[in-house]
Amino acid sequence: MDFTIALDHHSTLPLHRQLYEELRRLILAGRLVPGQRLPSTRVLARSLLISRATVTLSYEQLLSEGYLQTVTGSGTFVCSQLPDDLLSVPLLETSTASMPAGQSVRLSAYGKSLVDTNYYIRSSNTGSSDGKSLLSFRYGSPAIDRLPLKQWRQLLSRYCRVVNPAMFDYASNSLGYPPLREAIAHYLVQSRAVQCEADQVIIVSGSQQALDLVTRILVDRGDRVAIENPSYLDARRIFLAQGAQLLPIPVDESGIVVDRLLDSDDTKIKLVYVTPSHQFPTGAMLSLPRRLELLTWATQAGAIIIEDDYDSEFRYGGRPIPALQALDRSNSAIYIGTFSKVLFPALRIGYLVVPKTLVKVLANAKRLTDRQSPLLEQQVLTDFINKGYLERHIRRMRTLYNQRRQALIQALLKYLGDRVTIVGENAGMHLMIRLHTHLSDSDIVDQAAYLGVELVSAQPYYLADAGTSEFVIGYAALNEEEITEGVRRLAQVLVGYC
Ligand SMILES: Cc1ncc(COP(=O)(O)O)c(C=O)c1O
Repeated sequence: MDFTIALDHHSTLPLHRQLYEELRRLILAGRLVPGQRLPSTRVLARSLLISRATVTLSYEQLLSEGYLQTVTGSGTFVCSQLPDDLLSVPLLETSTASMPAGQSVRLSAYGKSLVDTNYYIRSSNTGSSDGKSLLSFRYGSPAIDRLPLKQWRQLLSRYCRVVNPAMFDYASNSLGYPPLREAIAHYLVQSRAVQCEADQVIIVSGSQQALDLVTRILVDRGDRVAIENPSYLDARRIFLAQGAQLLPIPVDESGIVVDRLLDSDDTKIKLVYVTPSHQFPTGAMLSLPRRLELLTWATQAGAIIIEDDYDSEFRYGGRPIPALQALDRSNSAIYIGTFSKVLFPALRIGYLVVPKTLVKVLANAKRLTDRQSPLLEQQVLTDFINKGYLERHIRRMRTLYNQRRQALIQALLKYLGDRVTIVGENAGMHLMIRLHTHLSDSDIVDQAAYLGVELVSAQPYYLADAGTSEFVIGYAALNEEEITEGVRRLAQVLVGYC
């Protein structure tokens, strides 16, 4: 083939998916023409230094979507009759270099930082090579099939029936629906010991917007931002896009190693991003002495701590731990929460709790970004909380996720035994595992995908000193049978290689 295929072994996107996208792009761009023969899976695998299973998986996806066809005995070809609508789909170019001459757009520094990235794309792979359904251990989704939709629907239709002009107009401010801010403040004081009044709560479109707004108002290009290593990718990406210089601080079983922060040139650190209740992705809980050390350091250094409390509602043993913000005596902590895990991600409602001095500037930033979050959902959510439905749902999900977690641990021990170490606290919707194997992470991910299991390597979460053979396993959206079957298939990949 007279073209090159670039695969990124450090990407979160599995290799088979990258190869699929590259080949699809080449077909749509006319670089691979209808009727053209593709190399055999063995030849392509050898030339790209990847496993044959990876190539087979990509070819199968393209075959099922009609981009390729096989001719028995002759090989695999670009389909001679590509549907017209496929060819008319405008290509999503990943680089301005490939724009027609004279039409190149001069991007801002922010725009440039986003061009050559392939942020999170969910796999469209739906199953294994032999037709078994896909079991995805990708972290993030709650048990959507267990949502109390009956109550949600009732509240939604009640609000839609009421004809109140204010409901459909611009809100008077960008801070959010006042009764929802009240309900959240009450909930946080009760369940997380957060120190707040309703006027410190700002409703945003999920944690992602909270992080984005806080970063915009605090971080200038070149500012130093300390993050946990490993850490949540979408937070890191926001800091980088804003031009921050990232300082990775190691994490151990007691959370971020605050001493390492103290060792650094702390006067120049503007912001520290932490996940104290359940470190992402290792699952460690930040110990009390370290919480106090971190707060003291932030006060002295004049730095702000962002506390991302994304899944603290789910703890399965021991007492719930209060938020870090609960210990803050000097207005150093900004607290972020979300309804993406306790309800559903498409709701896009999260919240910030900020020192009173920052409320106005953040409200203005929110207004410039999207004016306000949608009102209808905020109203429904307010009633959902005030009627006790949310609390009940969280209680049910806590039991369910605990069962799923136990099923996962049992399956890991049964099928992988001493080939696996389980890392992290008894909490959340995911856990991290270390596999004792000589296989590379990408081989494991690809061979698991070949058997219909979506697995995510922890490597991309590290900014420095990435470990190998670590994987983040999300279990909340799979039932116990699926979890056990997924681990059984994963064991098939590992058996014989350890
Ligand atoms: C560490 C962390 N923070 C926040 C979120 C939630 O983001 P959002 O509220 O934007 O859906 C996630 C989701 O996966 C996460 O892992």
